[in-house]
Amino acid sequence: MIYLTRELVEKFQNGEKKLSLDLGRSVTMVTNELDGVPLDEVKGDFVYAWDGEELWKLAVFDDGLYRLRMMKGKPILEIDGLRMHLIKEFGDVFDYSELVVRELKLKQSDVVLDTCMGLGYTAIAASRKADRVVAIELSRAVLAMAKWNPWSRELFELDRIEVIEEKSCFDYIREAENEKFTKVIHDPPRFSNAGELYSRSFYRELKRVCKKDALLFHYVGSLGKKKRNIMGEVAKRLEECGWKVLKKDARLQGIVAKAV
Ligand SMILES: C[S@@+](CC[C@H](N)C(=O)[O-])C[C@H]1O[C@@H](n2cnc3c(N)ncnc32)[C@H](O)[C@@H]1O
Repeated sequence: MIYLTRELVEKFQNGEKKLSLDLGRSVTMVTNELDGVPLDEVKGDFVYAWDGEELWKLAVFDDGLYRLRMMKGKPILEIDGLRMHLIKEFGDVFDYSELVVRELKLKQSDVVLDTCMGLGYTAIAASRKADRVVAIELSRAVLAMAKWNPWSRELFELDRIEVIEEKSCFDYIREAENEKFTKVIHDPPRFSNAGELYSRSFYRELKRVCKKDALLFHYVGSLGKKKRNIMGEVAKRLEECGWKVLKKDARLQGIVAKAV
């Protein structure tokens, strides 16, 4: 599979030969790889894949427009124009995942739950430290994007990552046994789009499936600045449901809490 963007096509047409055909994972000296590819069909800021016969635009209409796009040289997931990752104040999309994993002080023996997998960048970062990661993704369209994305490959190749497809993390948690997990990454869509993933009943169930002293990183977002103090509201709700808030991190726009 060859991955293309308008920027790459322009570089190629300007005579550059040392290019990445996998969205920046590796660099190739391009000889005949792009022969036969309809380069003029690579348009806008979409990402495309060429399978040797057909050019695929990596965008899907489901209940909205889901697509990959390049940001700071790496693919990100956008849903209806909303970025699913924090990148503005970071070097690239992977910085955030690394920092989240660092906050959780992951170790090999940890059993990690990544509630909202997306492209799996947080799950993959966690799998570099911990032996066991369960990642859940509800959306078919997002799963399709992750399966196309060369940077999500580990999700489907590593034995230590279990991907639960097309299931809500809330349903998964309701069915899971007590005290299964020692670390949780909860990186849901923003509050206005996924209210139940910020609810007391969710936090209680999450606590039930965690061992005592388990650590949670919960992305909350920054709605607080102008509208409401979402960070404060979430912290209060977590505390009511058996979590002790250890840190409110303004840069990561999230909360670190411990199961008590
Ligand atoms: C902010 S993104 C997660 C990004 C992810 N941490 C990464 O590194 O790529 C949120 C994801 O949660 C998914 N999602 C929304 N509701 C969900 C639910 N109830 N259960 C599981 N996943 C859900 C969305 O489809 C989206 O892919």
